[in-house]
Amino acid sequence: MDEKTVAENGYSRRSFLADSGKVIAGAAVASSLLTGQAKEAKAYPYSTGYKYTKLDPKEVGRITYENYFKRWCASSIVAGFVEPLRKKVGGLWKSYPIDAMRWAHGGLAGWGATCGTLNGAGAVIGLVTNNTDTAEEMVNDLAFYYSYTELPSYAPAKIIKAKIHNMTLAGTIICHISVGRWMRSEDVSFLSDARAERCARMAANIAMETAGMLNDWSDGKYKPKHKLLFNLAANGITSQNNCMDCHGQNVPGVETYSTLKK
Ligand code: HEC
Repeated sequence: MDEKTVAENGYSRRSFLADSGKVIAGAAVASSLLTGQAKEAKAYPYSTGYKYTKLDPKEVGRITYENYFKRWCASSIVAGFVEPLRKKVGGLWKSYPIDAMRWAHGGLAGWGATCGTLNGAGAVIGLVTNNTDTAEEMVNDLAFYYSYTELPSYAPAKIIKAKIHNMTLAGTIICHISVGRWMRSEDVSFLSDARAERCARMAANIAMETAGMLNDWSDGKYKPKHKLLFNLAANGITSQNNCMDCHGQNVPGVETYSTLKK
C-alpha cells in the first residue's frame, strides 16, 4: 500500500502504520516504509576486529557490579565484558578504552534519558556482532527485558554499598522514570547509597542478560524474541508503551496530526 492509496482510502496514519506492522520483517524494512527509500535502507553486514568468545554471565555480572561505584552504569557494563575478553581473546580488546562510554551514566550525563546500562551493553553488542539487524535485534530484546522485568534481581555475593529491598517494573528504558519508580518504592533519595546499589545491581542484570544473548549468538542459536520497531509501528511514532507517564490522560492521537505527506 503506498501513501497515495492510504490518503485516497482515508486511512489514518495510525492505521497505515498498524497495517504496515504486519509485514515488517526488520528495522530496515520498517524504516524504508517511513522514508519511502525502500531500496536504500537494508540491513547489511559489517566487519569488526573485536572477536567474541563465550563468557560466564555470572562473572560478567560480578565485574559489572564491582565496577559500578567507580565507572557507573554504562562503562561498568563495558568493563564487565572488556576485562574478561582482554584475558580470553586479547587483540583489540587490550586497548579498548573502557571509560569512553562513561558519559552515558544517568541517562546521558545525568539528563535522565536512556538508562546508561543499555548504551553500555549496546556498545559491546555493536562491537562484537557483524550485522546491523542482529545488533538492533539484541538491543531491542534488551530494551524489552529492561522495561518489563522486575529488577534488580541480581544478588551480589558481597554487598558493596547497601542492603536494598525492592524490585520494580520500569515499563520504560528512560532512566528518570525507571530510577524514580524504584526510589519511590524504596523510599530513598537519588544520592543515597541504596540508590547507587540499585543501579549497580541493575547494571549487573543487564550485563548478564547481554552475555546470555551473545553466548547464544556465538553458538549460532540467538533468535530475537521481539519484533524490531514494534512500538514505532504500533504507535505511529518513535515511542515506548508508556504514553501516560508523560501525557497523563491526554495522550495525543496520532491521527490528529497529518504530518505524513499526502
Ligand atoms: C517521556 C515522555 C513522553 C512519553 C512517554 C510519550 N510522550 Fe508523546 N510527547 C511528549 C512530549 C513532551 C511531546 C511534545 C508535545 C507536548 O509537549 O505535548 C510529545 C508529543 C507527542 C506527539 C506529537 C503531537 C503533539 O502533541 O505535538 C504524539 C502524537 C505523541 N506524543 C504521542 C505519544 C504516544 C502515542 C505515546 C505512547 C506510545 C507517547 N506520546 C509517549 C512526551 C512523551
